[in-house]
Amino acid sequence: MVRIFNHIGVDAVNVGERDLALGIPYLKELEGKYNFPFISANLTDENGSPIFKRYVIKNINGKNVGIFGLMGDMSEMVGKVENATGGTVKVQDVIEAATSVLAELAGKVDYTIALAHQKTNRDWVLARRAEGIDVIIGGDDYLKTEDPKKAGETLMVRAGEKGQYQGLLEVTLNGGKTAENSLIPFGDKIDDDPEVKQMLNEYNDKIVALYGGGSDTQSDATAAPVALRASSCEPCHTEVVQKWQASDHAKAYSTLVERSKQFDPSCLVCHTTRFEQPGGFTMTRQQPELMNVQCESCHGDATNHLGSMQPIPVANPPIEVCIKCHTADRCPDMEENYDGYWQKIVH
Ligand code: HEC
Ligand code: HEC
Ligand code: HEC
Ligand code: HEC
Repeated sequence: MVRIFNHIGVDAVNVGERDLALGIPYLKELEGKYNFPFISANLTDENGSPIFKRYVIKNINGKNVGIFGLMGDMSEMVGKVENATGGTVKVQDVIEAATSVLAELAGKVDYTIALAHQKTNRDWVLARRAEGIDVIIGGDDYLKTEDPKKAGETLMVRAGEKGQYQGLLEVTLNGGKTAENSLIPFGDKIDDDPEVKQMLNEYNDKIVALYGGGSDTQSDATAAPVALRASSCEPCHTEVVQKWQASDHAKAYSTLVERSKQFDPSCLVCHTTRFEQPGGFTMTRQQPELMNVQCESCHGDATNHLGSMQPIPVANPPIEVCIKCHTADRCPDMEENYDGYWQKIVH
């Protein structure tokens, strides 16, 4: 990620609690290798000294822009920071830290940006209590703001989760300050940057080599073919199994393999059968019989139904089962168009 940030030319990265889990020395080492700083105005060591640059000033089109970073100071977040750092990193009061940075920046900059790693409701508090922030770019709670919120003169924007959108804030400083925000979805209409694509491919291939190269996994092409779990239903539910085989659910695992993503738990959870549940697919074992979204992804563990003809756990899977995988960000029309989806996999 750091290589990619560097390539796309980010100006600063606000430190989050998961970054801290990498250890301060490693973050510093990365900073030395690349062209942008990690910043935080309220993460300090045990003596209260800042660990990272508190802010940066960038000259953009002749105007000076002050960018500072903040970590949420609610107890849940503070606990996460303590866990990640063994208590060596302290989270100072957000409002006090912001106020002190703003005082330092006063007169030196034309525009101030706070990168705030905290929940949206805390941005309102920050905007109201630390005066002089032009825009708060928020993270942490995955929300997105099509229409930026405004508290007094402070704009608050968020660009959603998983890199699905680019947030673009166009600011005009011409006597006054005007800003226009848009969220640009990274859909099929935007080509991949070839160099970023290359970096991602290298990363994915490394992961596949790391986990797929071992002798105790069955993932390589030479492994003996093992029948899918669904084939055990075939003698009695022949037609259903045939219909399933023709559906996209039957190719969900190969979709990952095509992208070298079959060792990414954050993909496997929806593209395999009963991922990490008892008797289900696991990332390290890569059981061929449990690849894809099979019958038991919707009907539950069929072991007793198979072994002693007990009723299947979920005879008529409700829409809630689908939505666990067909999340609103992927399939926003699932609820209103359930029949449309069901017709494609009807059995
Ligand atoms: C030996 C035959 C047999 C096998 C093998 C078998 N089933 Fe069944 N299944 C049945 C019978 C018989 C019923 C109907 C039972 C009933 O109505 O109580 C049934 C019912 C079901 C139902 C619907 C329940 C309902 O009440 O409408 C589902 C879902 C189901 N099976 C899934 C599976 C899955 C998944 C597999 C494979 C993992 C499987 N079955 C394997 C015989 C089998
Ligand atoms: C365990 C996760 C999971 C569950 C549960 C699940 N799906 Fe899917 N579904 C997927 C995945 C993954 C794909 C994409 C497969 C691919 O193309 O690689 C998919 C694809 C589909 C498709 C084809 C894509 C399209 O838009 O035409 C339909 C239709 C579908 N699912 C319907 C359903 C319905 C209806 C339910 C609930 C009864 C359901 N799914 C439950 C994971 C799931
Ligand atoms: C929360 C469940 C979930 C997770 C996690 C998930 N997917 Fe999916 N994926 C789906 C569903 C559901 C679909 C079908 C979407 C649709 O109908 O548009 C799908 C579709 C896809 C498709 C399109 C398949 C096609 O042929 O059109 C690709 C590619 C894909 N997923 C890759 C991934 C990768 C890579 C990851 C991990 C980074 C991942 N998915 C994580 C649920 C998930
Ligand atoms: C994506 C989720 C999903 C998958 C995968 C799935 N089913 Fe179903 N299945 C359903 C739903 C939803 C229903 C209930 C339909 C209804 O209420 O009429 C159903 C109904 C059934 C029934 C009862 C049909 C009837 O006529 O009463 C059987 C039997 C069954 N499934 C077997 C299977 C078998 C075998 C597989 C694997 C080859 C499978 N299902 C895969 C969602 C799924």
